[in-house]
Amino acid sequence: MANFPDILIDSFNQAGQGQVFQFFDELDETMQAELVAQAETIDLVEVKELVEEHVKGSQHYSLNLDGLEPAPYQALATKGGDSAQWDAAWEAGSAALRAGRVAAFTVAGGQGTRLGYDGPKGTYPVTPVTEKTLFQVFAEKIARSGERFDVTIPWYILTSEINDDATVAAFEAADFFGLSRESVHFIVQGLVPAVDYEGKILLAEKGKIAMTPDGHGGSLRALVRSGAVDTMKAQGIDIVCYFQVDNPIVQCIDPAFIGFHVLGQSELSSKMVPKAYALEKVGHFCIQNGKSLVVEYSDMPNEMQEETKVDGGIRFNGGSVAIHIFDRDFIARAGGSGEGSKLPFHRADKKIPHVNAAGKIIQPDSPNGVKFEMFVFDALPLAKNPVIIEAARADDFSPVKNAEGVDSPQSSKEDQLRMFARWFKAAGESIETDGSGLPAIKFEISPRFAVDEADFVSQWATLDPKTEIKDGAVIQ
Ligand code: UD1
Repeated sequence: MANFPDILIDSFNQAGQGQVFQFFDELDETMQAELVAQAETIDLVEVKELVEEHVKGSQHYSLNLDGLEPAPYQALATKGGDSAQWDAAWEAGSAALRAGRVAAFTVAGGQGTRLGYDGPKGTYPVTPVTEKTLFQVFAEKIARSGERFDVTIPWYILTSEINDDATVAAFEAADFFGLSRESVHFIVQGLVPAVDYEGKILLAEKGKIAMTPDGHGGSLRALVRSGAVDTMKAQGIDIVCYFQVDNPIVQCIDPAFIGFHVLGQSELSSKMVPKAYALEKVGHFCIQNGKSLVVEYSDMPNEMQEETKVDGGIRFNGGSVAIHIFDRDFIARAGGSGEGSKLPFHRADKKIPHVNAAGKIIQPDSPNGVKFEMFVFDALPLAKNPVIIEAARADDFSPVKNAEGVDSPQSSKEDQLRMFARWFKAAGESIETDGSGLPAIKFEISPRFAVDEADFVSQWATLDPKTEIKDGAVIQ
């Protein structure tokens, strides 16, 4: 057979993963070539380590909770923080922005299975009146922030093979939402094979390996491997504002946050919001042996999540909303392969459809295997001078994760409306709202017009003529 990739197949046999090529002879040439190309991307040494650590050893990951304390943070000025420090941070962040040191970075490589939406999550419509997509909202925020600080802010977007083509196509169809094409950089993250409980790599089809994205923690090595870190260096970028694709109200580019990061000489800064309730499913900002870390809700016993302080408040109150700022050189370190700098993988037991040894497709109804993911917040203990600041949930966090209920399109649209009404009132205007702050009418403030309350107040003051606020109005 022409070009028979003996060496590759042999390496799989030797690694005890020969089943990957079990049906090779049944495949046509194109399918064979595709399987070979897929297999070539697999790091068999990494797979062996993962299997030994997480599958064979059957040592389920469990965090040592000894000496775990809530992490200290910079409180909001409205919640007892020092307003002079917030002002100084705003100034420092604005200066860094004007100097062109800042890039935006969105992680959008996930599968978005919970929402039940079949397409890149960034193409999901989210705004209450014009139904702008998540990508459009972020693009407009980045454009407005650039205009505000007289600079072009580059935007790096993490995709994965699952959604890269569709993501790029969506940007092309929308003419990059008005951004310059050169300022948008797509980075494709790595994939890791899924294995069964014997540690054998699973086949999704006879000619296709079951692979999943390596988690948002994989974004750091993707930035390094793709050369993006070098591009940033050449662009003079050293401040990378990280946010998830699912959160339309995130302040993508927050001058005060950037300022705290710069003034604190931090390698990795994070925003926290006080938990909405003790058992809210978010990560917790903690400190242990002098190192900051995020402990996922699933790794912290309920009694600990519910512990209270003397004043009755929740002790582990710092919820992670997955908004960070990375120092570029820190990305190079944590995303590189140097000893002691690698992020760990986490194990997730999943129902993984696969082809069995008899060549039949199996759709399991209980977990039958393991997927591996890295979490970006595991970089926190590796970072020097980590800074954590408090954010107001209403100004920064209302994600679209579930089809209904909490963190759904509906709840996020309502939070956007509440935010628009608050900004409008802050500009001295009046609008009828209910007890929760929800306006009686639907209207929208375009992110192209203003990105935060202060920005809105100054923009509105100069808007002439003013938009009439009625149901369906859009301020742009
Ligand atoms: C995450 C955090 C949680 C935090 C919450 C806030 C984890 C394990 N938990 O939960 O601490 O409180 O967000 O909203 O992350 N992604 C990739 N590639 C991947 C996997 C994910 O780019 O391989 C991206 C997704 O596209 C998405 C983001 O990472 O933008 C979050 O992924 P998701 O799995 O939805 O995290 P959550 O469970 O919501």
